[in-house]
Amino acid sequence: MHSTHEFIAAHKDRFLAELLDLLRIPSVSADPAYAGDVRKAAEWVAANLRAAGADHVRLEETPGYPIVYGEKMVDPAAPTVLVYGHYDVQPADPLELWDNPPFEPVIKNEVIYARGACDDKGQVFMHLKAFEAMLATENLPCNVKFMIEGEEEVGSDNLGNFVAANKDLLKADVILISDTAIIANDIPSIDVGLRGLSYMEVEVQGPNRDLHSGVYGGAVANPITILCQMISSMHDEFNHITIPGFYDGVMEVSAADRAAMAQTPFDLDAYQKDLGIDTVHGEKGYTTLERASIRPTLDVNGIWGGYTGEGAKTVLPSKAYAKISMRLVPNQSSAEITRLFTEHFKAIAPKGVKVKVMAHHGGEAYLMPTDSIAFKAASDAMATTFGKEPVPTRGGGSIPIVALFEKELGVKSILMGFGLDSDAIHSPNEHYGLFNFYKGIETIPHFFQNFAALSK
Ligand code: BES
Ligand code: MN
Ligand code: MN
Repeated sequence: MHSTHEFIAAHKDRFLAELLDLLRIPSVSADPAYAGDVRKAAEWVAANLRAAGADHVRLEETPGYPIVYGEKMVDPAAPTVLVYGHYDVQPADPLELWDNPPFEPVIKNEVIYARGACDDKGQVFMHLKAFEAMLATENLPCNVKFMIEGEEEVGSDNLGNFVAANKDLLKADVILISDTAIIANDIPSIDVGLRGLSYMEVEVQGPNRDLHSGVYGGAVANPITILCQMISSMHDEFNHITIPGFYDGVMEVSAADRAAMAQTPFDLDAYQKDLGIDTVHGEKGYTTLERASIRPTLDVNGIWGGYTGEGAKTVLPSKAYAKISMRLVPNQSSAEITRLFTEHFKAIAPKGVKVKVMAHHGGEAYLMPTDSIAFKAASDAMATTFGKEPVPTRGGGSIPIVALFEKELGVKSILMGFGLDSDAIHSPNEHYGLFNFYKGIETIPHFFQNFAALSK
């Protein structure tokens, strides 16, 4: 282990330079304009993995973007770790809010600024470099398989099929993922839960064409107003979601677990300051941490219609649209919630408008046991490198493939992430601390060591 540590120290500048190269590739999976770049990122990851010493490195083609696969089988008797991550990134807009162009990474005050710096290129790359270091110093105690996909940010549709069709190839004892956050650089934590997701798009149509808002305004339903009323009605005065049946499956967290959660370090003042808000907002009866992790939510992600260009145009629009996401918790079913939303949205449409409801991607929530050897391996690894036991936390984000891994492969995932909630993932000026990048590279070999030892 000592030599692995020294290898990392000796090569840290090169590791960083390589990451910056990867960050220069604008692999935005949501936007077809970047299709060539997404593929280029896949090829770059494959080449880097090959150079690090992995065998059978290849692009597994899908109807969408390729999955990078590679492996190193050191000993059939050793346990196998499947490393999952994603090389695709979210769109960078609004571009004007970035201090530096999103795909021209810069380092300021020990922090890397670029789209994907934290989510997830920076975190995936820690695994490639930890692997390189373990292999180079003959300290790789587990078999390892890499599966790095390019469609995580658009719902991982093709990965699901790939996993179902390649159960033998992907056989593993644990799945290790770094795509989440710790509480703070001096408060390590491990996410033991992820929320599920139902993502919807709605259209409300009033009149059959755009109208003069003076000639018709006041006499014809305005679909934007109607849409806003419909959206508002989906929360009551206590910020409960009003869709009938929405809470039916919700797993209630025990009083003991909630009391434990309340012990999790959380600075409400700093939270509000960071976001520039003077108060938090959410479901009555729950704390901020609970609202953002163990409770389901409904949020408008975008709303549009009518005239949004320069200046003023007097128009009563024909149509209004919104994208609405619901974050789900264990025992809610994404398909069922999608159905309930669709029914409800149609039911609350007043006379005078027609509505369409369409489902985008979805996925199930995930809860990870903390009494497994994999959890202990991760916890001990972090305790070693941070000098402090990590706190188990429930994350609010979604990685839909994690529940699917369990269902298709019967393998549990460990979410050993190194980001911070304040890293602005999906936002302008996304960043990742050099501290976090190097801490990850340092911690991963300890996980492998611990997992091998505990598997005996
Ligand atoms: N890495 C995130 C998920 C995440 C972030 C989990 C922070 C826990 C803490 C992932 O890349 C992501 O953004 N997932 C999407 C879901 C996907 C279906 C688009 C999300 O959560 O919005
Ligand atoms: Mn991610
Ligand atoms: Mn993401």
